[in-house]
Parts: sequence; C-alpha cells; structure tokens
Amino acid sequence: MEGGNAAYAGGRRGSPVFPREYQAETLFQIDIAFKMRWQFSAGGRGRGGAGAAEGEGLLQSRHILLDFAAEQEHARRIRIITQSEIMSRKPIIAANWKMNMGPAEAREYLAGFRKELAAFDGSHVEKVLVPPFVTIPAVMDALGGCSCVGVGAQNCSDRDNGAYTGEVSTAMLAELGVRYVVLGHSERRRYYGETDSFINGKIKKALAAGLTPIHCIGETLEQRDGGQLESVLRTQVTEGLAGLAPEQAASVVIAYEPVWAIGTGRTATARQAQEAHAFVRSVLADSFGRETAEKIRIQYGGSMKPDNALELMAQPDIDGGLIGGAGLKPDSFAAIIRAAC
Ligand code: PGA
Repeated sequence: MEGGNAAYAGGRRGSPVFPREYQAETLFQIDIAFKMRWQFSAGGRGRGGAGAAEGEGLLQSRHILLDFAAEQEHARRIRIITQSEIMSRKPIIAANWKMNMGPAEAREYLAGFRKELAAFDGSHVEKVLVPPFVTIPAVMDALGGCSCVGVGAQNCSDRDNGAYTGEVSTAMLAELGVRYVVLGHSERRRYYGETDSFINGKIKKALAAGLTPIHCIGETLEQRDGGQLESVLRTQVTEGLAGLAPEQAASVVIAYEPVWAIGTGRTATARQAQEAHAFVRSVLADSFGRETAEKIRIQYGGSMKPDNALELMAQPDIDGGLIGGAGLKPDSFAAIIRAAC
C-alpha cells in the first residue's frame, strides 16, 4: 500500500482509515478496471495541522468506500469521482416509461419522485424522464419549471410537418419544453421496422431542433452468440450517426442496450457491458476522432436496477443508464440516480 502521510491503516473490512484531522478538501478518485483503485488527497486545514495527505490502493467494491464515507463525520465532503467524470462526461440517467403512465399516474409519480430527489444531492447527474407523448404536459406541469429533471420523448418524426398522420415533429416537442428524444429503441426497430438510415434521418431532425438524441443500439442474443456483436454495433453507430459533424456527434447520447437484457431481468455483466461500451467508443473515435469520442456519453440499458447500477456505473466507459422497468417506480429510479452520484 502506498501513501503519503500514513492516512491509510487498512481498517474494517479493508476500508481506508482516515485520520480526523483530514477534514478539508477530501477527494477520492476512483479508477476502475473491474477491481477498484482508490486515491485520495486531503488538504491540510485539519485540526492536527498536518500537511496534505495522499493515499491509494485497491478496493474490492465501491460499496466499501461508500459505507466508510457515510460513517465519517466529514462524509459530506467526500465525493466519489468516476472515470467518466474525470473525462468530463456528466452521467445521464433516463427513465423510459414506454407505453405506461397516463397523465394522472405521472402526477402521482412526480410527487413521490420529487420527495426522493430532495433526500440527496443529485446535481452531478443529468436526470431525464421519458413519458409517452400525451403525458409530457402533465410531467412538465408537475415539475413546476424545475430544470433539475429534463423531459424526453420516445420518438419523433423524420419530417418537419404536413400530411403524416400519427407523427409528432421535433418542433412540436421543443415547443413543449422537451429536451431529449429516444431514437432507434430496439422495440421500435423490432415492432415497427425502423432501420438505421430511417433513425439517422430522425437524429438529424432532432439535432436541428436543438434536442439531444438518445440513440439506442444493441445486439440480439443470436447476433452475440453468432459472433456478430462488433459488426452489429459498428453498423448501428456509423449508419445511425452518418453525416454528422464531430460537434453534432458530441452532443448525441448513445444507449447501448443488449436486446436480450431488455425487460428480461437478465443484465449484461459489468465486464460484458464495459467491453461493448469501450468498443462503441472506439467506433466513435474511428468516425469522429478520439477527442469527440471521449466526450460522447454512452448509457447502458437492459434490466438496470438499484442493485446492479453501482457496479455498471463504475465502469470507465459507462456514463449512465436508460432504465425501463425500474424507472416506473420513483424509489427505484431515485436509487439508481443515487448510485450514479
Ligand atoms: P428495462 O428496459 O430496464 O426494463 O430492461 C430498458 C429499455 O428498454 O430502455
């Protein structure tokens, strides 16, 4: 174990022991490669007048650090910094309600959700609710102008306006105050035949209207088992984002959602997810350059829940989550947001 002024003494369950004098400017940086590595530096304004301390080591689990932090009187000053934050990617957690929740149910949800959010500092996480179109005004209303939670739509038209029965344009969404739009979800690809080039047209419309597209990609189990994982993801990324300038691509959010994990209760392991995310980032780098690729946020989706969010979110290339089932309950959605804080 390395460490400057002996601020590590290998305490309970292997957690770091932190002398009381180090109360100020405490900073943990976590760099995860399936095993945790922790680092901290503590400023020297403490009671003992000791100088700055530093330490680093391996942790088996981020939980240990969080438990430890919660026990310390200066816990409020401790903040876990994930690798994605070090890369300046703000985590983004979105609840995709799919075809659930009418306006009345949404109002009830929002009352509970706002209480949940008030219980912790979630300001380091971008939070998004994605209701059905008809529920959007009720959600906006219940948020009461609070911009701490963004609202997204589940789809948009590839056209501007006109005789396209059943379609909703990006301008209409923007007029309601919508800031995000989920595009290319596997359910839309599967049940409504959406193709990569069709999705590409909608991504361009969304960007032109100032909306943030959440571009969903992911392989089926047959494709994964058949060794096609990388080719499927490469095609979905490159065709979905074809024709975008690097500055436009930087503002897109990608949601990697293995189709076999959606709504099945079967989650990709943290390792499987990280490998896919790292691959997607390499494809983004091929298309838009490394600098742009490092800015693009890649969410994981597929049975993300409070009890697996922490481990998934701890992976260096996982920058958030697109949540289905667990986003339908204010307490479980808030718990996932908390895991990303
Ligand atoms: P799930 O859905 O969390 O219920 O698996 C995720 C999604 O479809 O975005």
